[in-house]
Amino acid sequence: MKITDLGAQPGVIRKQATEMLVKGFDRPRGWSSLEAATREVEHVLRQGFAFAALEDSLLLGWIGGLPQYDGRVWELHPLVVRPDRRLRGIGRSLVAAFEREARCRGALTFTLGTDDDSGGTSISGVDLYDDVPRHIEGLHDLGYKHPFLFYRRLGYVVTGIMPDANGPGKPDIYMSRSARL
Ligand SMILES: CC(C)(COP(=O)(O)OP(=O)(O)OC[C@H]1O[C@@H](n2cnc3c(N)ncnc32)[C@H](O)[C@@H]1OP(=O)(O)O)[C@@H](O)C(=O)NCCC(=O)NCCS
Repeated sequence: MKITDLGAQPGVIRKQATEMLVKGFDRPRGWSSLEAATREVEHVLRQGFAFAALEDSLLLGWIGGLPQYDGRVWELHPLVVRPDRRLRGIGRSLVAAFEREARCRGALTFTLGTDDDSGGTSISGVDLYDDVPRHIEGLHDLGYKHPFLFYRRLGYVVTGIMPDANGPGKPDIYMSRSARL
């Protein structure tokens, strides 16, 4: 497997990147159409950067990075690994590539949002406003292996939540990690 610039890849690889946004997500849900996914790939390549994990001409996964706060913060978005290649360290390698590149571009903070639009965690379907810190403190997976567990494994911590970001009772979970060495 090699990790390389997605933007420099031929159309056949970029097409796989687009399809993966539609087919590679379950909980949270993916992009609803190839058109929306195509726009997303183009947006990430135009505004930031993206890396592909490749095995010959097969795309195993990809990750994007987008600047925020004049480039002091870089958002990890999106990240997806082929379902049949998960739990083999590809996601971890892609995140490491994202972090290296974002740090080179001046990041002080790496950040991301991981939606709970499918009832995967303790903060879905509840009134978060009654005690936001308590809900963050008590955040746990409900048995679906929500990706916040993956990011936590990689050193990211929950820095906030956005109630109803994906509809009533469907929040987004904000996680960050310091880029300062
Ligand atoms: C989340 C995702 C990118 C992880 O990729 P991956 O290649 O399977 O992850 P890795 O094999 O590099 O895992 C790194 C570590 O995290 C753990 N991990 C990975 N996914 C996990 C999950 N869903 N729940 C708990 N732990 C997880 C692994 O066991 C491994 O642990 P280790 O430190 O003991 O080795 C992948 O499951 C995916 O593409 N999911 C669908 C898309 C998605 O949800 N993207 C994120 C949206 S914000």
